[in-house]
Amino acid sequence: MKRKILVTGGTGFIGSHTTVELIQAGYDVVIVDNLSNSSADVVDGIEKITGVRPAFEKVDCLDYSALEHVFQKYTDISGIIHFAASKAVGESVQKPLLYYRNNLNSLINLLQLMPEYHVKGIIFSSSCTVYGQPDPENLPVTEQAPIKKAESPYGNTKQICEEIITDDIKSGAPIHAILLRYFNPIGSHPSAIIGEMPNGVPANLIPYLTQTAMGIRKELSVFGNDYNTPDGSCIRDYIYIVDLAKAHVAAMAHILDDKMTTPVDVFNIGTGKGNSVLELIKTFEECTGVKLNYKIVGRRAGDIEQVWGNVDKANKELGWKAQHTLAEALSSAWKWQQELRKRGIM
Ligand code: UD1
Repeated sequence: MKRKILVTGGTGFIGSHTTVELIQAGYDVVIVDNLSNSSADVVDGIEKITGVRPAFEKVDCLDYSALEHVFQKYTDISGIIHFAASKAVGESVQKPLLYYRNNLNSLINLLQLMPEYHVKGIIFSSSCTVYGQPDPENLPVTEQAPIKKAESPYGNTKQICEEIITDDIKSGAPIHAILLRYFNPIGSHPSAIIGEMPNGVPANLIPYLTQTAMGIRKELSVFGNDYNTPDGSCIRDYIYIVDLAKAHVAAMAHILDDKMTTPVDVFNIGTGKGNSVLELIKTFEECTGVKLNYKIVGRRAGDIEQVWGNVDKANKELGWKAQHTLAEALSSAWKWQQELRKRGIM
């Protein structure tokens, strides 16, 4: 029998790409999503790509009884991948209670239900944001690097959620957990059937960049060229979304095939390479042939100067490695932007 995985936030950007990879790896998927930042059409897209329609339940993870209903309806869920969360750094500063309520309570509800419904493991979407600005001698950053005080309520929820899971397991909860600390996920499925769907004016680099290339935005602002980096712009570890999605499949197999050496473990998920904003723009122009209108402006408050991951642990223990280049990821992001135009969305 196929193993059944509950994917919360499964119609979102990372959730939808992960659902595709899970289905293609032979899992059954049940998506739970409140559609607060995504659309049910994504389920059609997943079906179009895989030929299989995942089960979909429009449920808010904050609603304990509705969530419990899902576990009663789909009785044999083996694992959970928990994406459903609020994720805009700026908004979290404006609405901290919304972020703490959504992100913490959703997780607590899931953790409470897992033992009762014999769910073996959970994968939690964490972020490299927990490292803050690593000290220069700690780059590329490993999982052992110190956790820095969070810069935003969003970042704080990631840190607290990691602690909640760890404390729950320490107290004897009969579950396993993997915390995946993502670097910067970009791009879209090669089919351009699903992709990133930003709400309003994008805060993140890639959607702003592709919208500028499309002429929707006048110009891209590069936030600072006076950082202590080779070209003065910030450095990040940009990982292709399909590679990131596959890391979840590897992590789920690690849990379900009893490969874990400790009941809660943490892995960086990135490429192991850093690229500056200016390098990224140059790569985009080269691989798409589109000239990008951009200007250098002042630094963005709260930005980290440079961070990229040491991903040896995931490479060795999960048997997973990012396969795609930055150019491939950026080409897919551009193809998706063109698809949005074709669909008359943007
Ligand atoms: C941040 C968080 C990350 C979180 C993500 C969610 C940190 C260190 N990282 O990522 O945990 O998951 O937000 O939104 O807090 N840039 C421009 N012009 C733009 C937009 C961005 O130059 O218009 C630059 C930024 O300065 C940065 C890079 O592009 O150097 C990437 O920015 P962004 O896509 O917003 O991601 P992070 O800030 O790295």
